[in-house]
Amino acid sequence: MLDAARGLLACPVCAGALDVAERPVRCRSAHSFDVARQGYVNLLGSTPPANADTAAMVAARERVLASGAFDAVDALVARRAGAAGCRTVLDAGGGTGHHLARLLDALPDARGVSCDVSVAAAKRAGRAHERAASVVADTWGTLPLLSRRFDLVTCWFAPRNMAEFARVLGDDGLLVVVTPDAGHLAAVRERYGLLGIEPDKGDRLLRAASGFFTAVGSQRVRTPLAASAGLIADLVAMGPNAFHGVPDDVDALETEVAVTVWLFRRS
Ligand SMILES: C[S@@+](CC[C@H](N)C(=O)[O-])C[C@H]1O[C@@H](n2cnc3c(N)ncnc32)[C@H](O)[C@@H]1O
Ligand SMILES: [Zn+2]
Repeated sequence: MLDAARGLLACPVCAGALDVAERPVRCRSAHSFDVARQGYVNLLGSTPPANADTAAMVAARERVLASGAFDAVDALVARRAGAAGCRTVLDAGGGTGHHLARLLDALPDARGVSCDVSVAAAKRAGRAHERAASVVADTWGTLPLLSRRFDLVTCWFAPRNMAEFARVLGDDGLLVVVTPDAGHLAAVRERYGLLGIEPDKGDRLLRAASGFFTAVGSQRVRTPLAASAGLIADLVAMGPNAFHGVPDDVDALETEVAVTVWLFRRS
């Protein structure tokens, strides 16, 4: 619900605080933004890019996440966030809001905002959790968020704007980034020609973070995944390959979820 974003959102026109109790949501300079029926607010100020996730891709992702494939990773992120006492959370490129919702389930005193450039994703995230607000926003632009109001930023498999993440985090803020390892869903990638994982992804992440953040830890999570044919079809359908059509002759196969959870503190 949008109320979860009280005191956190900034007007994309003038950067002033947005009052989310108002309808439409507005700033003191009377810039106003409608709240959609599904509970999200669009603060993008432009048309979403053509390659933003479609409703069908988002629905497929929702089913994959609901299968529990990432539960072990969600649990690890929640343990770290809980240990750090995090209460205000931004999930950047938050997609369906699934990971933010699991985190909020584990942190009863926390609330959060999911930002995503895809309207289809924002619609889902608007209903993901009563303590989660959903905003359409571009990570590559200035995030429509007030500075230093968050104590946790999470970013799962989504674009990262380190300068903006550092701006919105408070002094002791924690950044958690989840990236895929080489073995992540490898059997599915190989069989169905999905995009590969760049081998130097970790180095590139550390380079991008330097100057803004100091890495304070990383942990690999590997869990076997016995994927049904339906799950495989959804794994293909939730990614960019879906733009070229989804094969209808998929078979069940054994694969694995293999990711690294990176922890950063503001430098
Ligand atoms: C691979 S999906 C991951 C979604 C979610 N974090 C998860 O793990 O379920 C990448 C997400 O990033 C979003 N995204 C891509 N470019 C973005 C941008 N420039 N700003 C905000 N979100 C973006 C997509 O719409 C999509 O929801
Ligand atoms: Zn304004």
